[in-house]
Amino acid sequence: MNKLYYGDNLDVLKNSIEDESVDLIYIDPPFNSKRGYNVLFESIDMTNAKAQKEAFADTWSNVSYLDEMYEIQDLDLDLYRFLHTLDNLRISKGVVSYLTIMTHRIYYMRKKLNNTGSFYLHCDPTMSHYLKIVCDLIFDKKNFRNEIVWWYETGGIPENDFSRKHDIILRYCKTTDYVFNSKDVKEKRSKEVLRRIATGRPSATRSKGHYRHPSDVWKIPAINAMAKERLGYPTQKPEELLERIIKASTNEGDIIADFFCGCGTTIAVAQRLGRQWIGVDISHLAIRLVFDRLLKNFEGKPEVINKIKDNIEINGFPKDIASAKDLAEKTDKSRIKFQDWIIEIMMNGVSNPQKTADGGFDGYLTFNKSEKGKDVVLIEVKSGNVTVKNIREFAEVVEKQKGSIGAFVCFADQVTKPMLAWAKEAGYYKPNIWGNRYEKIQIITVEDLLEGRSVRYPIYQNITFKSATNIPMQSENNPNSLFE
Ligand SMILES: C[S@@+](CC[C@H](N)C(=O)[O-])C[C@H]1O[C@@H](n2cnc3c(N)ncnc32)[C@H](O)[C@@H]1O
Repeated sequence: MNKLYYGDNLDVLKNSIEDESVDLIYIDPPFNSKRGYNVLFESIDMTNAKAQKEAFADTWSNVSYLDEMYEIQDLDLDLYRFLHTLDNLRISKGVVSYLTIMTHRIYYMRKKLNNTGSFYLHCDPTMSHYLKIVCDLIFDKKNFRNEIVWWYETGGIPENDFSRKHDIILRYCKTTDYVFNSKDVKEKRSKEVLRRIATGRPSATRSKGHYRHPSDVWKIPAINAMAKERLGYPTQKPEELLERIIKASTNEGDIIADFFCGCGTTIAVAQRLGRQWIGVDISHLAIRLVFDRLLKNFEGKPEVINKIKDNIEINGFPKDIASAKDLAEKTDKSRIKFQDWIIEIMMNGVSNPQKTADGGFDGYLTFNKSEKGKDVVLIEVKSGNVTVKNIREFAEVVEKQKGSIGAFVCFADQVTKPMLAWAKEAGYYKPNIWGNRYEKIQIITVEDLLEGRSVRYPIYQNITFKSATNIPMQSENNPNSLFE
């Protein structure tokens, strides 16, 4: 069973993964670059402007790293001494905080690897030298295997420096008895190298000369704005990079874990290459993207989609009404907000960053009503008591904002007959004269969402490419439900 976890990877490492159960760990943590990264979302006006939503911040300097440092003291005294010493030197608190947090997690990651397992740590030259010492201490220097240079060529051109065009990937193994399939990652020699060899040793080109043993410098293009695989997730890595790592260090059926999985590059490649996988991310948007990414290529093939879904366990979100109520009642910084869970996870929409005073709406989702035209569903979420007045006010907002449909979400025990009657009176949305009609105001219960039902709106598909029998007329069931 493949597993996706929403939450802090430290908790997952401590509580959910068995020791010595993983064959390969690849991590690409935030780089301590003091930038916030944003995921782009389609904005409500549906023009070219994009609403930005913070996906994650890679500045961990606010985390109370001292607590973690004391925990490390109990785990490994040398690690603690190293961090404590740095903390007393002329090194910024941001760096020490970052290293403490990484050290703590890498310590547990090593425990999860089995004896033939490998660990790849993706970082950049601002942190790689510190992280190498941490890894030498955790894995033992003799298990250091490579410092891989990922050379991506593109990027900015500074005026007074050599331009930075590479990341570093540190490769360690748990023991000297590790998996390494060099034949699966052979590198093609360039014409220039072949020519030089031919001049010096003509026999080399005739025998096995066209490929060479893989080296530690990898020239692979980064994801740019034109890249086909681009999902809009900041810091997304190219699949080719992960393909190399996975092929070199695992065999089919092996288990691969990415504890900072982002939009799921490791997971997508692991799935494609027939490996099992575990993904963890602290951003619920990342988890949503990973899920969508896995299903993206199988639109119109419900059997394949169901097979993939059946083989994924998603952890960290409410799965039943009791845990949904618990989330609604208790606000806890480490968990997703109830409203975000409903809108961004259960309904695949976007939380409205501008509101939430009364008179606005909590979120929205857009749909294609024709080849070019789009329309919008506005969403209102109520976690507590609800009256008919709330429905009435929401209907006014939908009218004022020119929403096509309004989805009003609450718990089932809040829904009353007057509310249903009022919603009915709001009338219908009909995208065109020959299509179906949809209730303008729809009351959706949390129970509905947990059972895979969601707001109903038209799903437009280009009939020139699909046979008419395959066209769903409306989304009675939420086709992308995570928990259906
Ligand atoms: C550089 S991105 C990874 C990008 C990924 N390799 C890809 O190709 O999409 C780092 C990720 O780490 C996540 N992250 C940061 N702190 C975390 C933590 N404590 N636990 C789990 N994930 C975390 C962020 O939300 C972000 O998605």
